[in-house]
Amino acid sequence: MKIMFIASEAFPFAKVGGLADVTSSLAIALHDLGHDPCLILPRYGSTRIPVQDVRRGNFVVSFMGHSEQVALKMTRLEKGIPVYLVENDDYFGTEEIYTQDDLKRFLFFSLNIPAVISQLDLHPDIIHCHDWHTALVPLWLKKAKMKLPCIFTIHNLAYQGSFDQQFFLDSGLSSVWQEYIPVSAPRPSPNFMGQGILLADIVTTVSPTYASEILTPQYGGQLEQLLNYRRDELYGIVNGIDYDEYNPAADPYLERNYDSTTMKRRADNKLALQTKGRLPQKLDIPLIGMVSRLEEQKGIDLLIRVIEQFIIETKAQLVILGQGREDYQKALTGAALKYPQRVSVFIANDERLARLIYGGSDIFLMPSRFEPCGLGQLIAMRYGAVPVVRRTGGLADTVKDVAEGNGNGFVFQNYNVSEMLEAIKRAEASFYQREEWNNLMRHNMKLDFSWNTSARKYEEIYLRARKMCATQRQ
Ligand code: GLC
Repeated sequence: MKIMFIASEAFPFAKVGGLADVTSSLAIALHDLGHDPCLILPRYGSTRIPVQDVRRGNFVVSFMGHSEQVALKMTRLEKGIPVYLVENDDYFGTEEIYTQDDLKRFLFFSLNIPAVISQLDLHPDIIHCHDWHTALVPLWLKKAKMKLPCIFTIHNLAYQGSFDQQFFLDSGLSSVWQEYIPVSAPRPSPNFMGQGILLADIVTTVSPTYASEILTPQYGGQLEQLLNYRRDELYGIVNGIDYDEYNPAADPYLERNYDSTTMKRRADNKLALQTKGRLPQKLDIPLIGMVSRLEEQKGIDLLIRVIEQFIIETKAQLVILGQGREDYQKALTGAALKYPQRVSVFIANDERLARLIYGGSDIFLMPSRFEPCGLGQLIAMRYGAVPVVRRTGGLADTVKDVAEGNGNGFVFQNYNVSEMLEAIKRAEASFYQREEWNNLMRHNMKLDFSWNTSARKYEEIYLRARKMCATQRQ
């Protein structure tokens, strides 16, 4: 199948979060299954890679009363997978991937997709849109009378592309908003995401637990009514990670490479991480790592609130890498200053250091408030760090508590400081049981969180969407 991914992020061209890893690694996995994927992304100012021009790659569109130039450029992902970049400097010339103007920018991007498809002469079998930035694509395809099977994947329901009445009128969206919505459907809310949910042939999200959580008011972000309306065509497929990219035996960013049979070497990464974090170099106390966007979703407020007690009640060290909300950054940096022997904080987006945290810490912490899938826990397990997570979304689907037998980590249920600290303390106690702990690390390293199984599930979804469209056409 010719599968066209449309997204705002794809590694290594543009990355803010896990979305980027998933779009490119899933495309590679589908390619390995014998399909023919391609990607369409905006070309940001920061996407500095050699590109080729595309035949018939320039066109002019009219957008919100202006006439705009669009240029299509091309580059390739691993294994020769084509990546088409939609270029217009007024909208995408920025260094940042996301700005204050995202509604307009991604309206512009999605509006151009029908023209991009016809200019490129690609004839895709499947259109696969990711997150709110591309949620209007099904609408624009209908408007252009392009009958293509459309999948819409929700990576995070917290970002919906919500707009106000002024934008609704100025953008011209008001004139098409209800056009393709079935009369029986709930009215689409004033955001991009809702249209995608209602108009895509199939809606997916990135874990089965999150797929059921978002049907409830607690997790549904006020879209639960729309999601319930689509529940027969809503699927949860857990993300994989790219096992060639994330491989401790070959990762060039590690201090020392290792695998499950040469675990002793892993200690060199722990020492290097302690040195980097200016923490005492000690192998006999647990080192807890965290790599995370510093946003509300990720449970950073819990972390901040637990620190004093954590210092008193455990002996563990803590290394945190991430960036995001100012107040979180300040509080965490403050904790590192106050407890320099125990806490080390890096406010950055640093892939090299991230790998050292995965490969050097003993425990990997993800206390998320909600988590559509989460990739950190998967990478951590592949690198032998044992996850401590809250039981939500993809974390619930991929981490099972050791207390339940044959588990792979430590899980707490409710979003509060005491349950989180209790889970950390259980992990610490288990760390001191050296033999058991080593077995647990080795067990986790051998688990399979590659795309093998999940890419096949997407394949089934694509086939189903094609069938649905074929029957509609008859
Ligand atoms: C978003 C979600 C995360 C998920 C990722 C990729 O970043 O917050 O849970 O793993 O998308 O799907």
